Amino acid sequence: MEKEKAIQLKNVCFSFGNAKVLKDITFSADKGDFLGLIGPNGSGKTTLLKLILGLYPLKCGSIKLFGTEITSFRDWSRIGYIPQKATNIDTIFPATVKEVVAMGLLSRKKFPKTINRKDDKEINAALKTVGMDELRNKRIGELSGGQQQRIFIARALISKPDILFLDEPTTGVDQNTQESFYRLLGELNQKGITIILISHDIGKITKYVNKIASLNTALEFYGSHSEFCAYDPEHCHDNIDQHRLCLDRG
Ligand SMILES: Nc1ncnc2c1ncn2[C@@H]1O[C@H](COP(=O)(O)OP(=O)(O)OP(=O)(O)O)[C@@H](O)[C@H]1O
Ligand SMILES: [Mg+2]
Repeated sequence: MEKEKAIQLKNVCFSFGNAKVLKDITFSADKGDFLGLIGPNGSGKTTLLKLILGLYPLKCGSIKLFGTEITSFRDWSRIGYIPQKATNIDTIFPATVKEVVAMGLLSRKKFPKTINRKDDKEINAALKTVGMDELRNKRIGELSGGQQQRIFIARALISKPDILFLDEPTTGVDQNTQESFYRLLGELNQKGITIILISHDIGKITKYVNKIASLNTALEFYGSHSEFCAYDPEHCHDNIDQHRLCLDRG
């Protein structure tokens, strides 16, 4: 049976002025995929993500989210997005962890935008999922980069998204923290959330993803984890998640 598509891109192109940034990009991700979108600096990853999120107007081609053209897609609470440099927080930024997570809740609320007891429970649950519930009353600026990333995941999770887009979420974070962060993403993926992870470091993420799209203005490679290993054995790592590989084999 054909799997339901989470995102579908067809012949997508984009340019800033005369500078061509994306050329004829066609690929898709199924529901339940953990897709790594890789490519060197300036290869168009963030631009492509912003197109998928409808933040830039499409110049050509088409993009669908859950089967609907993005131009008519309205169900944005199904989409979680953690932008590049989300964690560049000033240390004197006064909001607490709880308040930052609550922002994810307020965006879908009608007025009055106050936090009730049920919201408070949801905030705690989201913080627990990312292992940060004990830090709820700390100021966000006092947290380490790795802890802040988890808080931003909690903020994205609170609207119960079906798909999570993360743009270079582990820049400037040590190796161990990175690994545990990717494991957390793996757990969320196992719970059924489709994950699209942007990174310029293919070696680090092949362990976790089941699909890879490699971008350099054009799409250089798109395929499953095992197809990637045949294409680029040097950057291939065994997938730590056997469940994923079983899924791939159908
Ligand atoms: N707002 C903008 N105006 C003009 N050019 C832009 C703009 N944003 C990006 N670009 C250019 O488009 C190209 C792709 O940029 P993009 O940010 O998508 O790359 P990236 O793959 O995300 O890179 P990185 O790994 O450094 O984050 C680059 O050449 C960049 O200079
Ligand atoms: Mg980028």
